Amino acid sequence: MKGKNAIVTGGARGIGEAIARKLAGNGANVIIWDVMEDAAKETAAKIAAEFGVKATGASVNVTDSAAIDAAVAAVKDEFGTIDVLVNNAGVTRDNLMMRMKEEDFDFVLNINLKGVFLCSKAVAKIMAKQRGGSIVNIASVIGIMGNAGQANYAASKGGVIALSKTIAKEYSGRGVRCNAVAPGYIQTAMTDKLSDEVKDKMLAFIPLGSLGQPEDVAKAVNFLASDESSYITGEVIKVDGGMVM
Ligand SMILES: NC(=O)c1ccc[n+]([C@@H]2O[C@H](COP(=O)([O-])OP(=O)(O)OC[C@H]3O[C@@H](n4cnc5c(N)ncnc54)[C@H](O)[C@@H]3O)[C@@H](O)[C@H]2O)c1
Repeated sequence: MKGKNAIVTGGARGIGEAIARKLAGNGANVIIWDVMEDAAKETAAKIAAEFGVKATGASVNVTDSAAIDAAVAAVKDEFGTIDVLVNNAGVTRDNLMMRMKEEDFDFVLNINLKGVFLCSKAVAKIMAKQRGGSIVNIASVIGIMGNAGQANYAASKGGVIALSKTIAKEYSGRGVRCNAVAPGYIQTAMTDKLSDEVKDKMLAFIPLGSLGQPEDVAKAVNFLASDESSYITGEVIKVDGGMVM
């Protein structure tokens, strides 16, 4: 990854931060886009100091196409190339479908699915001109198996998988690869809010017997971002301790 430039959306904390750290640890410069501007800048500063790479943080909402276009232009100016895009920003607004509000459905679909479309479209244009690049989208095993109480989230993540395969097909002729990583149950702020009862129930379905860590997801993302996976596109790698087989 040495000398490559990687954008990580939602990289201020959690899985996105672990991904940014992993890529930087392997020599990549990282650009963190997040709605939490201060946290994005702090995380970037820590990464730059720790790994000796260039790292920047900026306030970019993945649902705002004008902000994305401006941010892409700024990265291109400052870094020259964009070699990797990790679409990691994501949210949940859980409820059983009978109680789920229309705005909660739209909110989750907008960030988790449309956000991936907007960022990929803007960055793929640059990658296609460069004749090279790797896009890695963070989906979820819920997008494969569905989950009661997560109609919006499951639909968004299933959509991310289908979108990843379509990007892979449309851009492969220009040297741009696109793959997805589908994490299972990973210990972050997103899952900390679940009750112990729900956590215990989920653990019972994980053959490897423990929750995943953000670093487990980061390793798979690093593989798909790097040339180690140069003959892989349109693939979905589950990082779930064997939860879904
Ligand atoms: N934690 C899990 O168990 C798990 C499992 C499967 C998939 N995932 C996926 O992994 C990704 C990261 O999840 P996490 O657990 O680290 O969550 P998290 O809540 O800790 O981090 C999400 C980050 O995205 C940012 N973000 C939210 N909305 C945004 C927007 N509109 N524009 C830009 N940034 C935005 C947040 O500020 C935050 O920094 C998500 O896509 C999530 O769906 C997580």
